[in-house]
Amino acid sequence: MTRILVAHGSKRGSTAEIAEWIGEMLRSDGHHVDVAPARETADVREYEAVILGGALYGGRWHKDARRFARRHAQALRGRALWLFSSGPLDRTAAEKRIPAVPGVARSMARLGAKGHVTFGGRLAPGQSGFLASAIAKKMAGDYRDREQVTAWAKGVSAELDGPTRPLT
Ligand SMILES: Cc1cc2nc3c(=O)[nH]c(=O)nc-3n(C[C@H](O)[C@H](O)[C@H](O)COP(=O)(O)O)c2cc1C
Repeated sequence: MTRILVAHGSKRGSTAEIAEWIGEMLRSDGHHVDVAPARETADVREYEAVILGGALYGGRWHKDARRFARRHAQALRGRALWLFSSGPLDRTAAEKRIPAVPGVARSMARLGAKGHVTFGGRLAPGQSGFLASAIAKKMAGDYRDREQVTAWAKGVSAELDGPTRPLT
């Protein structure tokens, strides 16, 4: 059993829900998992592995995910770490591999993350705010694919259980 933290930066809740799906899968594989907003996590040192996810806004991770990556950089470098992003409001994320946006790619390299995936996003119709309402008029919908999320989490679980895992 590995102690795993799934931390998320989410404005409208859909990335938080993806984090919960990941948590459910990992728990069903027997791991101890905490799922929490990135801004509420004070310390990651009690975990052997961390999964950090952020919603994409304007080509960047939600600020809570960016701050988490900065604040916990030293501890994260010494842990098994995976990153995910959620954003595209179309089917592309389910159809092909979408690379990390530049800021997230830099975090991956700096923190030595083992992997990154981009999942589809969700935006409800009738958003307030100029930009969000304009985007919602054209692209509102739920483009998350729970099976894709669960399959990715299974891959993480397999790596954690695999022969390369250091004995603790
Ligand atoms: C103002 C605004 C800007 C966005 N910018 C991006 C973007 O740059 N790239 C992207 O893939 N998705 C973008 N999206 C879509 C969101 O990432 C998507 O709705 C996501 O699921 C939101 O996650 P949350 O519910 O956890 O906040 C944007 C959405 C809004 C409303």
